[in-house]
Amino acid sequence: EKGGYDYFMLKEIVEQPRALADTLLGRVAADGTLTLDEMRLTPADLRETSKIVIIACGTSYHAGMIAKYAVEHWCRIPCEVEVASEFRYRDPILDRRTLVIAISQSGESMDTLMAVRYAREQGARVLAICNVNGSTIPRESDAVLYTHAGPEVGVAATKTFLTQLAACYLVGLYLAQVRGHKFGDEINTVIGQLAHMPEQVEKVLDTVDPVRALARSLADADTVLFLGRHVGYPVAMEGALKLKELAYMHAEAFAAGELKHGPIALIEDGLPVVVVVPSREGRGVLHDKIVSNIQEIRARGARTVVIAEEGDEAVRPFADELVEIPAVPTLLQPIVSTVPLQVFACELALAKGNDVDQPRNLAKSVTVE
Ligand code: F6R
Repeated sequence: EKGGYDYFMLKEIVEQPRALADTLLGRVAADGTLTLDEMRLTPADLRETSKIVIIACGTSYHAGMIAKYAVEHWCRIPCEVEVASEFRYRDPILDRRTLVIAISQSGESMDTLMAVRYAREQGARVLAICNVNGSTIPRESDAVLYTHAGPEVGVAATKTFLTQLAACYLVGLYLAQVRGHKFGDEINTVIGQLAHMPEQVEKVLDTVDPVRALARSLADADTVLFLGRHVGYPVAMEGALKLKELAYMHAEAFAAGELKHGPIALIEDGLPVVVVVPSREGRGVLHDKIVSNIQEIRARGARTVVIAEEGDEAVRPFADELVEIPAVPTLLQPIVSTVPLQVFACELALAKGNDVDQPRNLAKSVTVE
């Protein structure tokens, strides 16, 4: 059942191109129109939406953070993201024109479910993005978009995260389409690029082996820091979360621009810092800023592990370890940049002798508040 792998997690990482393709299947037409019929929200409902609020926990929350960048850029609708356990205890402002998007792999996380109930009581409409058919959160929501990752057995979310990203992109692009948008051409181009993401992930998997040796070489580190910017910031957070839960290591992510406001004081000789470098396309400024951050931390002794687009010569001189990923549009980059981080955490945990499918103290679905 593990398909020849020692752990479900290894199998589930490799299944990601298929999981993504299955999630996009039937939803993206050849002419670039999106069909999300099963979502049960009418175009009229979506045209009325004045605010989007995304609620989720853990890895699903990181997917939500990435969705915010995409949705605000494509749809020009204000979008907030919040961990579900914080959301409902602070009197959030919601009404009929608020679209709440609840992201939950299992559809059973109690924190997210309680937030969904609260949002509906306040009159908001709730769209669930979920991987488990007929689970509680989609049953209690107004609409659902299922990810088609197939069952995920490993406790750490991998393929379900990539498919949540795909679902979030689909929702954002669909909203932009039904609302009519000044970037109409850009929307169609991105839809085409999204359809090619399964192949891009396949390329990452074909070249990711050196990350395993790198991870093993860091098995004795006390701390690993992660830096990212723009959509790379939630990716860095996801990389840190994977390392905590699987390798039981101290790992922390920072927005690269925040370094100089404090965290740079942590940098000392030999400290491993993983940096997710933004695409050069369209976001050249961010790319250049992060290259200076890499220089700054390296000058202070950090061992830099740099995840960057293939052919990015600007980062090469400052990377102690360079992990290349395919060049894809900025907003879609998390789909490819997350994969080496999953492999990194998984391999490091295995090097420590941990059970990556059943990390200590964790459960696959958290049905208590
Ligand atoms: C991380 C992980 C957890 C879940 C979180 C939310 O690898 O698995 O952080 O992402 O418990 O779970 P769902 O998405 O089922 O609501």
